[in-house]
Amino acid sequence: MKNFLITGGAGFIGSNFVVSLLNKYLDYHVVVYDKLTYAGNLENLLQVTDNPRYTFVKGDICDATLVSETVQKHQIDTIVNFAAETHVDRSIMDADAFMNTNVQGTYVLLETARKLGLERFHQISTDEVYGDVPEGIASLESDPVAPRSPYAASKASGDLMTLAFYTTYQLPVTITRGANNIGPYQYPEKVVPLFATNAIDNIPLPVYGDGRQKRDYQYVLDHCRAVDRVLHQGKIGEIYNIGTGHEMENMTMVRIILDTLGKPESLIRHVEDRPGHDRRYSLNVEKIQDLGWEPKHSLAQAIELTAQWYRDNEWWWRKIKEGDFQTYYEAQYGDRLRAAQ
Ligand code: NAD
Ligand code: DAU
Repeated sequence: MKNFLITGGAGFIGSNFVVSLLNKYLDYHVVVYDKLTYAGNLENLLQVTDNPRYTFVKGDICDATLVSETVQKHQIDTIVNFAAETHVDRSIMDADAFMNTNVQGTYVLLETARKLGLERFHQISTDEVYGDVPEGIASLESDPVAPRSPYAASKASGDLMTLAFYTTYQLPVTITRGANNIGPYQYPEKVVPLFATNAIDNIPLPVYGDGRQKRDYQYVLDHCRAVDRVLHQGKIGEIYNIGTGHEMENMTMVRIILDTLGKPESLIRHVEDRPGHDRRYSLNVEKIQDLGWEPKHSLAQAIELTAQWYRDNEWWWRKIKEGDFQTYYEAQYGDRLRAAQ
């Protein structure tokens, strides 16, 4: 395991992972393979741009020819697949890209890994594949998948295809299912960066429904360390949940953001809920803990650090929010916010 193809490496979690991998393993080479959709951003990778062990290839994971050429040219032995369409609300608006990238694209990568006999294929997945989790229950890796949004269904399909390649062809695969990640370089459509940047600008924070939905907001670098652990110590053919094992209501998360930034609660607006909104995710994380991994940040610390990063890094997010994002924001929130006045 030395030559990595990190798909989606210009996105939020992928870029954090690439930087930590290159910093930690001084003999590893990383090729980031990324389509640079609205969510991909080479500014996330500025820390490694000049690193001789880093290469960037612009490409779509659905492009079997380019994927295969890239793997061969760079003598890739390990694929870590972060590439995906990732926002639940966008999947509700239009699921096409989710099916192409998250289902077909994952299949293309698996087939390439099989044909070229790679050492490892690792699929980055999500706790959303377990669906809405009742109080008192924490999802185990052995639980059946029960996705409820188009995004979650597309990710569950990727997981099932990955497991099928292990069973049928003995492709050496591992899968991690992460809870909500937060931290530097997250596109500001996701709730924590959206609310932090809105609060900085003194504009309303659109809370879906009653805001009592529960999520495990984990710090992105904790998640990256756990993926690293699974790559190096995980058992082939296995799934590992990754999260703190604790959860928090969205309203609590909102108040931590406002407190951190010194902003008033009058910015909160309860707006029409997300259709099919999962009330609760909760992961049993004993299996990843058995590999010796523990998160270094609590949920509250992760939220505070993230809000502070957005306060200190306007150079990164302000131009994003001023561009095409405005059209998305109006489509997603315009009517909701006007109705909530
Ligand atoms: P992101 O949206 O920030 O980044 C996705 C990246 O994938 C972008 O750089 C984009 O350009 C690239 N991409 C999209 N389609 C592509 C294609 N067809 N070919 C090549 N590249 C393509 O996503 P993220 O939040 O960093 O999530 C990364 C992975 O982690 C995803 O698989 C997601 O499902 C999973 N995940 C995310 C979270 C979270 O809270 N963000 C939690 C658990 C799992
Ligand atoms: O759980 C892992 C998943 O976390 C990842 O697989 C997804 O890629 C990632 O987008 C994230 O999905 P969520 O739907 O949980 O994250 P999001 O940030 O969109 O929303 C978090 C919570 O906040 C959820 O209960 C919905 C709520 N929310 C979200 C937005 C964008 C609001 O109340 N208002 C909002 O404007």
